[in-house]
Amino acid sequence: MTQDELKRQVAQAALPYLKNTPIIGMGTGSTVTHLIDLLADCDFKHDIEGAVSSSIKTTEHLQRIGIPVLELNQTGDLEIYVDGADEVTPHKKMLKGGGGALTREKIIAGASKKFVCIVDSSKCVDVMGKFPLPVEVLPLARSFVARELVKLGGQPELRQNYITDNHCEILDVHNLSILDPVELERIINNIPGVVTNGLFALRGADVVLVGKGSEVISY
Ligand code: 5RP
Repeated sequence: MTQDELKRQVAQAALPYLKNTPIIGMGTGSTVTHLIDLLADCDFKHDIEGAVSSSIKTTEHLQRIGIPVLELNQTGDLEIYVDGADEVTPHKKMLKGGGGALTREKIIAGASKKFVCIVDSSKCVDVMGKFPLPVEVLPLARSFVARELVKLGGQPELRQNYITDNHCEILDVHNLSILDPVELERIINNIPGVVTNGLFALRGADVVLVGKGSEVISY
């Protein structure tokens, strides 16, 4: 199977988690795109009253298939949030934000009782950091934050021609050794000017589904 087929396979496996849940949280990315496509044709789509969306892209896709998009301020906490990841560990810690939606994703994840992470098998790692860590920054703080990230051993690179849904910028940080993701998530979030960083370690996933081709495993 191609990577894209594995993404669709794991998205299919996530559908049962959305059944009997009137309000769902929806992540961002190509794996989630498959999930929304599959939702469009599933028999319980009309039982879904609405979704809280993590990005403009996801909002537009949900609206195209007829699922109302709700504000988190109105819904309160959610039963379930489903999203992809760029890397995930056996301890269900994740590195996210390749699609640039990390801040809204982290907010919705924090407000959800269950986070179901859906990935193809290429995303499974023992130690995170091979994928550059996205850090969303206020534009005026970009250079200061970049210098602080260098002090932490990383090599930040401004994501070119990219502005987030929150009108901020992203520094993609290469060569970080992420041996203690909980501590690094805290340290980077404490740098003034950082909106958030792509480590989802303080609030990791509750369930990880991995599309492997022959099967989907969960842990
Ligand atoms: C977006 C994300 C995505 O979940 C992550 O980049 C994985 O994307 P894909 O499903 O396209 O591989 O964090 O901000």
